[in-house]
Amino acid sequence: MERFLVTGGSRLAGEVGVPGAKNSVLKLMAASLLAHGRTTLRAVPDILDVEVMADVLRALGAAVDRDLTRESLSIDVPARPGAAADSDIVRRIRASVVVLGPLVARCGEARVALPGGDAIGARALDMHVNGLTKLGAVVDVEAGTLVARSSGRLQGASIWLDFPSVGATENLMMAGALAKGTTVIDNAAREPEIADLCAMLTAMGAKLDGAGTSTLVIDGVDELRPTVHDTVADRIVAGTFAIGALMTGGDVLIRGGRADHLDIVLDKLTTAGATVDVRGDGFRVVADRPPRSIDVVTLPYPGFPTDLLPQTIALEAVSEGVSLITENVFDSRFVFCRELLKLGADLRTDGHHVVVRRTDRLVGAPVVASDVRAGAGLVLAGLVADGTTDVSEVHHIDRGYAGFVEQLRDLGANVRREPPAAR
Ligand code: UD1
Repeated sequence: MERFLVTGGSRLAGEVGVPGAKNSVLKLMAASLLAHGRTTLRAVPDILDVEVMADVLRALGAAVDRDLTRESLSIDVPARPGAAADSDIVRRIRASVVVLGPLVARCGEARVALPGGDAIGARALDMHVNGLTKLGAVVDVEAGTLVARSSGRLQGASIWLDFPSVGATENLMMAGALAKGTTVIDNAAREPEIADLCAMLTAMGAKLDGAGTSTLVIDGVDELRPTVHDTVADRIVAGTFAIGALMTGGDVLIRGGRADHLDIVLDKLTTAGATVDVRGDGFRVVADRPPRSIDVVTLPYPGFPTDLLPQTIALEAVSEGVSLITENVFDSRFVFCRELLKLGADLRTDGHHVVVRRTDRLVGAPVVASDVRAGAGLVLAGLVADGTTDVSEVHHIDRGYAGFVEQLRDLGANVRREPPAAR
């Protein structure tokens, strides 16, 4: 596995472009399955997860062609796509579970390997399963594979989600788009990526109302048509650079960044001492004094995004004062804290809270990226640590950040990608 060597001490300054959102494009790719013919997605980020999702679609019979120079992806979906997503591929990304809704709606059957072999009713996918069942599908687990079947067309229904799950909202709105009658999803997720998927489905001919609110109303149609769609900008990548600018006393223009998708984040960063200047083509973050601590609570959108939590904990490790951070969306986010401690951070976790105090200096050390956002947080910490931070397992970072090393270098950071360390 490759690693990143990050040598601290540089200030991030200049301009950086924001690619299309990972958390949107993977669902847009799944949505292409709803229509026969060629869908074109634009502003597609050059990340590993797009490759994996392309393989999922290929295994279902679609022809997927990527044009890296144009950042576009064309997906030609056959009249009768296959029902079974390849299990080895599917297990590599949890997001691939969103092919379930489109496939069962269009073909009457979908088979998707369970991520890590979860049982039905286990926390992770219960809302997906319960919602599809309400729409008339019969969902079972057969030999570690989630199988959804529908003898005729799915039937619109009212669905209340226990929690505004992003993936469940997406799966169910795609299924509802081709169901007979009206589907109402209440307590739906409101993330900008959901609104992006709604926009694409509408362009495909779906009848959807309430995009970006917690009640989605979908009048099912008989058929959808392929479309051309631009992926929304990645607010998590934009937020990562904004935090990096503040941590390093930098000045970064985040071109294409959607400040309106980062309201609470930019407000917090302003409280922490950054000056944020929103412009027509993005926003600029200037930090001309050391950061002050802020308290952060993660919540579904429009709350503070859990996907910026590790980066924020890294920021707090060098901010003046004491910060209380609360994670409400995922159980396992704080694995990252163990790695940050290796750099000398002063923090303590208790359940879903972490208290972070400013440390005089972080010192570079070997650390492991446990997931895509933890990896980004460790790279940011490395930018302000003395010496060199050796971040391994960077394939996780490649899953969600296109050309991260190059982008950071263009901003003046001392970062390079290296082959695996010799054992
Ligand atoms: C998506 C994002 C991820 C982000 C998360 C929350 C993608 C590819 N990933 O993940 O980066 O961190 O939203 O903003 O878009 N849950 C259940 N039962 C379910 C579904 C979810 O209990 O049926 C739980 C999950 O275990 C988790 C919480 O709900 O604790 C949120 O999950 P969800 O919003 O579904 O996240 P994802 O769609 O998996």
